[in-house]
Amino acid sequence: MHDVLPPASAAWEHVVARFATHAARAGYGLAVTPMLEHTEVFRRVGEDTEVVAKEMYELTDRAGRALALRPEGTASVVRAYVEHRPTPPWKVWYVAPNFRYERPQRGRYRQHWQVGVEALGAADAALDVECIALAHGICVDLGVPGLRLLLNSMGDPEARAAYVAVLRDHLRRAGAHLGEAFRARVETNPLRLLDTKQPEWLEVVERAPQLAEHLGPDALAHFEAVQAGLRALGIPFELAPRLVRGFDYYTRTTFELQTDALDAAQNAVGGGGRYDRLAETMGGPPTPGIGFGLGIERLVLAAGLVDRLSTHPRLDAFVVDASGPGTDREAILVLAELRAAGLRADRAYGGRSLKGQWRAADRSGARYGVMLAPDEAARGTVVVKDLATGAQVEVPRPGLVGWLQARCGPGATRAGDPAPGVPAPGVSAP
Ligand code: HAM
Repeated sequence: MHDVLPPASAAWEHVVARFATHAARAGYGLAVTPMLEHTEVFRRVGEDTEVVAKEMYELTDRAGRALALRPEGTASVVRAYVEHRPTPPWKVWYVAPNFRYERPQRGRYRQHWQVGVEALGAADAALDVECIALAHGICVDLGVPGLRLLLNSMGDPEARAAYVAVLRDHLRRAGAHLGEAFRARVETNPLRLLDTKQPEWLEVVERAPQLAEHLGPDALAHFEAVQAGLRALGIPFELAPRLVRGFDYYTRTTFELQTDALDAAQNAVGGGGRYDRLAETMGGPPTPGIGFGLGIERLVLAAGLVDRLSTHPRLDAFVVDASGPGTDREAILVLAELRAAGLRADRAYGGRSLKGQWRAADRSGARYGVMLAPDEAARGTVVVKDLATGAQVEVPRPGLVGWLQARCGPGATRAGDPAPGVPAPGVSAP
């Protein structure tokens, strides 16, 4: 688990702010759910999955109830849907920590954060397209390099059960020589073998029959509609018949966004898919659903956001008070005025010398130093210094806010601002 502190946390602010903007544009409202749930809630997402069976942080509360720290966001949101029964379609986004007892390494942590969405109440393939386009669009906006979108369909549960029988049969026969661990997996969860990274199992797995060939007619038509929608938007994707995501709830569409900027073992910046039966298994009315989660740590690493944002000024102005000890009334007022006008402004505290205040101004990452000094005050002006170039100008005190706003405020291009929204794929600028 890790701390996220300034200045690196500016990258997090950027990711969350951009995600909130993209999600709001597509009609998603923020959902905040508890970090703890009854363990039962998470068991429903897959008793046999690694995350639930081996990685969950479980505890007993003072009343003896079995609780678990959220290992992933979908179960919590679907639990909230079942509990509150909002009118479908219900579209929400979230930013939340998740806990998994994994082996920590670069891009893999025991507490990680996700931004994501869940949309419940519509089985329409156009909603799959919307979700995938949202996940892809935010990665493009953030500048994730070497992005690949992998797409698969898990089919409907009935057809999948028939396929699992065929698959198990193949793996039993073809993998009889592969040892106890392999044979155990064939019996418990043969689907999970499809995306194995064990080199000695690959040959057998690669020859296995594919789920895509066993989809029922409705699931196949749905899958084709999703692909047609993505093509219409000009979003490139690759069919990945052996993409099996780590939860049992998936039905039909599944997808993953990978980047070549991260190590192969954790190169997924995000993933998601449909879970048309999950609400029912939690005791709710039959309600189709789809969503995705993107790992914030991985987005920040892959897009190199900490370095990219570190060159952006953190403040617009740093007020340097040269009016002498005990007379900082003007500094207090100027600072309040700048902040009320929407400018980002700070000052030094603790009666620092003039030299000390300028040093603090340089360190603060501000774009301009604003000096209040007796001679200039007598002339009704202040000194404004560009902290990057050292150039100074005298600005009339009443015009200070306007002067700074023209250079730093809304409407001016502020270097720290998020990139403007990406144009929709396939749509050219006027
Ligand atoms: P997931 O694939 O387990 O899906 O996680 C989504 C993303 O979270 C991953 O692609 C990765 O970027 C990030 N992530 C996962 N585990 C870690 C970790 N230990 N350290 C750092 N980052 C990690 C889900 O959680 C599903 N709830 C997604 C979903 C939403 N499906 C439907 N709706």
